[in-house]
Amino acid sequence: MIETVNHMRQSMDNYSKHRGVINRYREFLSVTDKTPIITLNEGNTPLIRAERLSAAISDRLDIHLKYEGLNPTGSFKDRGMTMAVSKAIEEGAKAVMCASTGNTAASAAAYAGKAGIKCVVLIPDGAIALGKLSQALIHGAHVLAIAGNFDDAFELVVSITDNYPITFVNSLNPYRIEGQTTGAFEICDSLGDAPDFHAIPVGNAGNITAYWKGYQEYQAAGCSESLPRMIGFQAAGAAPIVLGHPVKNPETFATAIRIGNPASWKRAEAAAADSNGGIWAVTDDEIREAYKMLASLEGIFVEPASAASVAGVRKLVAEGYFDSVKPRQGDRIRISCTLTGHGLKDPNAAIASVEEPTKLPADESTILETIGL
Ligand SMILES: Cc1ncc(COP(=O)(O)O)c(C=O)c1O
Repeated sequence: MIETVNHMRQSMDNYSKHRGVINRYREFLSVTDKTPIITLNEGNTPLIRAERLSAAISDRLDIHLKYEGLNPTGSFKDRGMTMAVSKAIEEGAKAVMCASTGNTAASAAAYAGKAGIKCVVLIPDGAIALGKLSQALIHGAHVLAIAGNFDDAFELVVSITDNYPITFVNSLNPYRIEGQTTGAFEICDSLGDAPDFHAIPVGNAGNITAYWKGYQEYQAAGCSESLPRMIGFQAAGAAPIVLGHPVKNPETFATAIRIGNPASWKRAEAAAADSNGGIWAVTDDEIREAYKMLASLEGIFVEPASAASVAGVRKLVAEGYFDSVKPRQGDRIRISCTLTGHGLKDPNAAIASVEEPTKLPADESTILETIGL
């Protein structure tokens, strides 16, 4: 009986401990006692040590996966959206608006729903993964699918929100970036310090900007000792930063990072340069292979864009990038990889990447024969 009561107390304690990233890291964020906090208890996602994946890639690496697909709407966007929507409400906004490759739309729709305000999202028609579209719609957003790509949608949203009373909640909104710094804080809290490297997919380039800002702020506050080298990865068909010029018709099966003219381009370049890291391109085949490795070796199902971080680490290993690197501690190089979104966001990508199920009659002996028993 006493054991049961203690167990219940412990569970209630855990339940009440994490109340979203604003409550956990409020001293680092622009909130006051007057800010109404709109939260879905985002953040506190697991940092998973990936022993099988590390062994498959290089015995010199100790890879840790920050599984952001376990946020309330299934992506890292929730960390920034809790801040953006809370500040919008504090400032009296009645509506928010964003352009999106899907995840921002899903997150904005959910947080706006929670706050009881209107949400308008502009998406490129036909280029949004099914799971994300269904989220934005079910949360009650006004979803407008435009005949254009993400970059076209983004320009329209900037222009509309500049001229009309509707709050812009893409990652150029500084509160989005602030909220997303908490991913870096959590990694330092889990590891006891920053890793040697941080690998991250790059689309509109807000998240690499946010992580770098977060690592710097945590170190400056004395909460961590060192800084990681930031290594970012774009899809080869949508790699403007790597190419050094905007890409007019970006193409990749990783639809979340199909972006040809990133809004935070300069800040992403600065994060890579100032941390002595870099930004590279990975092909769709490389992303697809990493996507399958994550699922089969680590039991982690991500959406394609998320796998760009792991694909990039594999590519750099093959190019000898880590050969002369000495680990800061221990005998392996510690790398954290942000896995930005959940695999169920894009079930069609998974189905297209594997073999169809074998069709059989409902007969035990045929089943046993087929599975070799
Ligand atoms: C799953 C996923 N990964 C990566 C990114 C890229 O993040 P950012 O645009 O901040 O570079 C996005 C952006 O939409 C995303 O949804």
